[in-house]
Amino acid sequence: MIILNIKSIFKILLMIVLVFQISTTAQESEEHGSIDSKVEAFLKDHRNDWHDMNIPFQDGKFLHDLIIENNYTRALEIGTSTGHSAIWIARALSKTGGKLITIEINENRYQQAVENFKEAGVSEFIDARLADAHLLVKELDGPFDFVFSDADKSWYRQYFIDVAPKITEGGCYVTHNATARWWNSAEYIDYLKSRDDFKTTVEKDQTSGIAISYKNQSKINPK
Ligand SMILES: C[S@@+](CC[C@H](N)C(=O)[O-])C[C@H]1O[C@@H](n2cnc3c(N)ncnc32)[C@H](O)[C@@H]1O
Repeated sequence: MIILNIKSIFKILLMIVLVFQISTTAQESEEHGSIDSKVEAFLKDHRNDWHDMNIPFQDGKFLHDLIIENNYTRALEIGTSTGHSAIWIARALSKTGGKLITIEINENRYQQAVENFKEAGVSEFIDARLADAHLLVKELDGPFDFVFSDADKSWYRQYFIDVAPKITEGGCYVTHNATARWWNSAEYIDYLKSRDDFKTTVEKDQTSGIAISYKNQSKINPK
């Protein structure tokens, strides 16, 4: 008869836990891999199909990488259109374990976006809302650690004012078309830079013009 002492029982239990952890991690990375390759294939097939004011490919990649680098998980997008940026954001969130709320006012674009999310395999990471963001943004509780603003420019400043208190420390608010001349972007960027609770930089090289405003931790909790 085999008599196990406490040390041996502990070793066996430790091995069981380790084997379980390794198989769970392997399963998770396999899942991430399969979502990633489905999105990759979808984006490749639809590379020339984005005609509804959608962001360009390099901006999508930029948003994706920003989320991964900062391990963001609670995302909000204002202005879904047919879903190009949301798919890039959801692709990143599938890796960080997060979820996106995205808002669109136009019913046809909203319906097309929902179809695209299904086809790209990212529906489970997206809560798509058909709504007027002027109203819904005020109502959402948050908190958010990543916000992408890409709807009506005349309301950009108000969106920022409404969302800013719901952003977590270290979270960021990303503004699209930040350097475009066809709207009052310079005045808006001046406003962002005037806020000492955020640190704003404008990315012109890797993107078509994106402003990133990080919520400044030291200003929120002054000693
Ligand atoms: C530039 S497009 C968004 C593109 C999208 N982010 C992408 O890259 O695929 C702006 C979208 O914002 C939507 N929009 C404009 N005003 C809005 C509002 N008040 N509430 C919600 N969506 C709005 C427009 O209908 C349009 O589809």
